[in-house]
Amino acid sequence: MDRREFLNTTLPRLAIFSVSASARSKELPRLRELAARKNLLVGSAVSYAELQQVAFTNLLAAQASIVVSENDMKWQRIHPEPDRFDFARADALLSFAMQHGQKLRGHNLCWHEQMPNWFSQVTTPENAGYLLRRHISEVAGHFAGQIHSWDVVNEAVHVEDGRPDGLRNSKWLQLLGPDYLAIAYRAAAKADPKALLTYNDYDIEQDGPKFDAKRKAVLRLLIWMRQEKIPIQALGLQSHLRAAAKLPGWTALHQFMTAVEKLDFQIFITELDVNDSDLGPDIEQRDRLVADLYRDYLANVPQHKAVKAVLTWGLTDRDSWLNSLSRRRGERLRRPLPFDSELEPKPAFQAEIDAILAASARA
Ligand code: XIL
Repeated sequence: MDRREFLNTTLPRLAIFSVSASARSKELPRLRELAARKNLLVGSAVSYAELQQVAFTNLLAAQASIVVSENDMKWQRIHPEPDRFDFARADALLSFAMQHGQKLRGHNLCWHEQMPNWFSQVTTPENAGYLLRRHISEVAGHFAGQIHSWDVVNEAVHVEDGRPDGLRNSKWLQLLGPDYLAIAYRAAAKADPKALLTYNDYDIEQDGPKFDAKRKAVLRLLIWMRQEKIPIQALGLQSHLRAAAKLPGWTALHQFMTAVEKLDFQIFITELDVNDSDLGPDIEQRDRLVADLYRDYLANVPQHKAVKAVLTWGLTDRDSWLNSLSRRRGERLRRPLPFDSELEPKPAFQAEIDAILAASARA
């Protein structure tokens, strides 16, 4: 570590736990700047409600070089009626990102969840094909030239559905067959030739048979897309991790990522968070084990030069999607993100800094 890196990280690290809240955001190291030196983008998912809060937006502007809308580009929000699109909330995030020199990811153009109610009226292949093309041409067309990468299809693999190809038995698949993937990526390439078209999925990262089966099916899908000459440039590893007393080994993940790199895909960590619900009640220990997993994961995945961006799914525990359910059930709040509910940095934030400083620069 050189002198500047020492001053930038070690001193603020001590300050994290001693400086008053108002002074703190000025004192914090800026992850986006540390990551930029390694040619890596860092950031998080953002909700429209968060975008209205100054304390939050100051933190986001200081820390993130890339952002993604948590919900506002999904069909339910952006295509509320068959003939009406509503871009207002997504546009608000785009203008925030432009103002702060941040890149914007698009999430997502085709998924089986968070569909508007009117989608139930779509029952024929003709309607489904027309609708998928039209939605993508309108939405990706609206943001054309402004999006770093689009999650064109989200979560198309679900081995549990029992198909030999591992594809999820979604309504899209039922109506259009596997060809719906080709339709979606071709429509996105046409509407926004500049965006990096991405396939995004979960349960790829950790050890165990469930993850092995998922990796195998996702790899098979990526190979098929290359064979079919479907336009796609990147894979998104959602990275919703689960903390346990013991860290995973990552060997199978490394092998998988090497295979993906050989197929000439970039890789983005798109939705990183660490679920601590299996851990004991002691907060300090939970935060430490969560941070250990952040540090270890981020020491491993960026070893692959194909990894160009790391985004967490939210920035503060207060707004984590994992807490919407805990809150409803009256359970204790989970602590999955780098900042706590008061927007104070947690050990996971320091873990991100350590890992990024240790990462080698990419092209
Ligand atoms: C989640 C949002 O965070 C929640 O607010 C919403 O209620 C449900 O969706 N994988 C994805 C994301 O690709 O879109 C999901 O986001 C989390 C899991």
